Amino acid sequence: MKAYLLNKAGGVENLVLSEIEKPAVKADEVLVQTKAISINPVDYKVRGSEDAINSFISTERPVILGWDISGTVAEVGADVTDFAVDDDVFGMVNFPGAGNAYAEYVAAPAGQLAKKPSATLFEDAAATTLAALTALQVLTGRVEAGDRVLIHAGSGGVGHYAIQIAKNMGAHVITTSSAKNRDFCMQLGADEHIDYREVKFEEVLTDIDFVLDGMGGDNITKSVKVIKDGGAMVSLPAPDFPEAATQEAEARNINIEFILVQSNGDDMNTLAGMLENGTIKPHVSATFPFDKLQDAHLQVESGRTVGKVVVTL
Ligand SMILES: NC(=O)c1ccc[n+]([C@@H]2O[C@H](COP(=O)([O-])OP(=O)(O)OC[C@H]3O[C@@H](n4cnc5c(N)ncnc54)[C@H](OP(=O)(O)O)[C@@H]3O)[C@@H](O)[C@H]2O)c1
Repeated sequence: MKAYLLNKAGGVENLVLSEIEKPAVKADEVLVQTKAISINPVDYKVRGSEDAINSFISTERPVILGWDISGTVAEVGADVTDFAVDDDVFGMVNFPGAGNAYAEYVAAPAGQLAKKPSATLFEDAAATTLAALTALQVLTGRVEAGDRVLIHAGSGGVGHYAIQIAKNMGAHVITTSSAKNRDFCMQLGADEHIDYREVKFEEVLTDIDFVLDGMGGDNITKSVKVIKDGGAMVSLPAPDFPEAATQEAEARNINIEFILVQSNGDDMNTLAGMLENGTIKPHVSATFPFDKLQDAHLQVESGRTVGKVVVTL
């Protein structure tokens, strides 16, 4: 089968399309013939750093990057009862860990997959994995009906799912992006939009119950200022928060957390239900063929992605 091997950290040229053996399937796994793969910021971040390859995937080389797939079951392991050959499935495989997703066949734990709704395209299903799981896992248990929720980067992969899920929870959703993505964010269900290039959100917002921060750094310090006493924030890019933010949060009983999304078949089934009943609509703004996967990385690395970027096989 064809797969992209990464022998060492570096630029997109280090993703080398190669011919390797199909993976063997363990008892609790299924072999998925990949139809679509989604690319996330973590993909290019891991590609570019030996430390990140070691901690996110493996200390062995080469590795196969990627976690988000949709496809068709080609084989089932001896202990698998929930899936059969020819089922269409989707999921985020072994995150954090070795997902081995940039390949024509992926061995995936059955417990991390869901059946793809029949009306959902493979591209849309592949898009509804890491980014959608992140939005779901962050918002669940942290947001209630009536909360004022600030979602930064509402036009991005995580943000565009977070707007839809928070709105469905009954929250009042305020989101940030540049002006060109305002209409997109409002169509997803946002109640208010702030163009971060024109308006300092920290000067116009107050009384926020919960912030979902996709930017990190200075944005965390500014976001704490708009949260009401006793409120909360999850910041996604990294687990280290500026000292000023931590101090203000402590003084005003605000909980700031970093969480890392986890592979989870139950959550995938929740997302499958949300696709079926229209609670979430994935937005795939760009698709690339498998032999142009490097271009998909460059697109995501631009930081300007609207919704999701997907590679098709
Ligand atoms: N901890 C975890 O488990 C986890 C999970 C998922 C993602 N993440 C991290 O979360 C971050 C976001 O991920 P993503 O997939 O949503 O990224 P993404 O899709 O690449 O986000 C792109 C979007 O960000 C917007 N944006 C850029 N600068 C902005 C700013 N200053 N203020 C508001 N919006 C801005 C852009 O809109 P404009 O073009 O309009 O500026 C663009 O639509 C990344 O750092 C990612 O690594 C972490």
